Amino acid sequence: MLVLGIESSCDETGVAIYDTERGLIGNQLHTQIAMHAQYGGVVPELASRDHIHRLVPLTRACLDEAHVDLQDLDAIAYTQGPGLGGALLTGTSFANALAFANDKPVIPVHHLEGHLLSPMLAEDKPEFPFVALLVSGGHTQIMAVTGVGKYELLGESIDDAAGEAFDKTGKLLGLPYPGGAKLSQLAKLGVAGRFEFPRPMLHSHDLNMSFSGLKTAVLTAVNKVKEAHGTVDEQTRNDICLGFQDAVVDVLSRKVQDALKQTGFNSLVVAGGVGANWKLRERLNQLKVRVFFPPLSLCTDNGAMIAFAGAMHLQDARAVGAFDVKPRWPLI
Ligand code: KG4
Ligand code: ZN
Repeated sequence: MLVLGIESSCDETGVAIYDTERGLIGNQLHTQIAMHAQYGGVVPELASRDHIHRLVPLTRACLDEAHVDLQDLDAIAYTQGPGLGGALLTGTSFANALAFANDKPVIPVHHLEGHLLSPMLAEDKPEFPFVALLVSGGHTQIMAVTGVGKYELLGESIDDAAGEAFDKTGKLLGLPYPGGAKLSQLAKLGVAGRFEFPRPMLHSHDLNMSFSGLKTAVLTAVNKVKEAHGTVDEQTRNDICLGFQDAVVDVLSRKVQDALKQTGFNSLVVAGGVGANWKLRERLNQLKVRVFFPPLSLCTDNGAMIAFAGAMHLQDARAVGAFDVKPRWPLI
């Protein structure tokens, strides 16, 4: 069976084809990061307009790459939510129009389920059950996953998502949007131990987390340095990056260990953009369980995870009817 997947929930346009026999056979992506960088964050209206320009050429390129004709497709999956309303509407309308014109069924997909299942696109894939750490720009959740569609929320951030904390902290350190990846690169040049930041909710006796206070702690540190030296030099900024990253990674890693203990599962899946973070990978790989990360290219938003999640829900495929988007949509 061949499933076309379309992702347009935020600032990446992704189109991919998953073959249930052969795996991923087409994967096209366009990132709008450069366009939004000049504004310091995603501008929703610009995101929607750009998706509209990209969807048709990316779909053509994906079909060519996979040597597949539109008529060969068995279903068209698309991200129905959560995400930016206008951006979601572009992919949703396109997918439904394409499906209607070619008499194909559609499969609305939950964006987070796409992330959650994306490590199954790797050659070395996890088996159920597993604990999943979902760390993106919009969500930070720990889940018990016992099968496709069988998710139990064990804990989550009660305020900022980990990726959001990375981006906001990057911004206040003067890094270009999105600051997360850049901040973690600079952390590699940092000296350990110069800046210690708090580990919020580490002893909360549950699996919830909080990251919004961390950026305030960084701001306080930056202001202290400025008061003393007038400016924050490069080395100091790198040291702050390292201290901040250590704090986030420490909290995530300890909460995940608690989740593994609580469930008794011995596999861990890490998904979402922050899953690309080198320090998080290093820490989690030290745990005495099997740890699965999606390939780096599939950590951030992409069409492949939507095509794959769609293929896992082929039995839910439905004829095109009235459609809507779900900008706010809890997975569980
Ligand atoms: O999953 P994703 O592409 O989009 C959402 O659905 O949110 O995640 C994007 C988030 C951004 O906040 C970005 O800064 C963060 O992932 N990110 C990173 C790294 N690469 C991306 N955060 C920390 N370290 C990285 N290497
Ligand atoms: Zn995402």
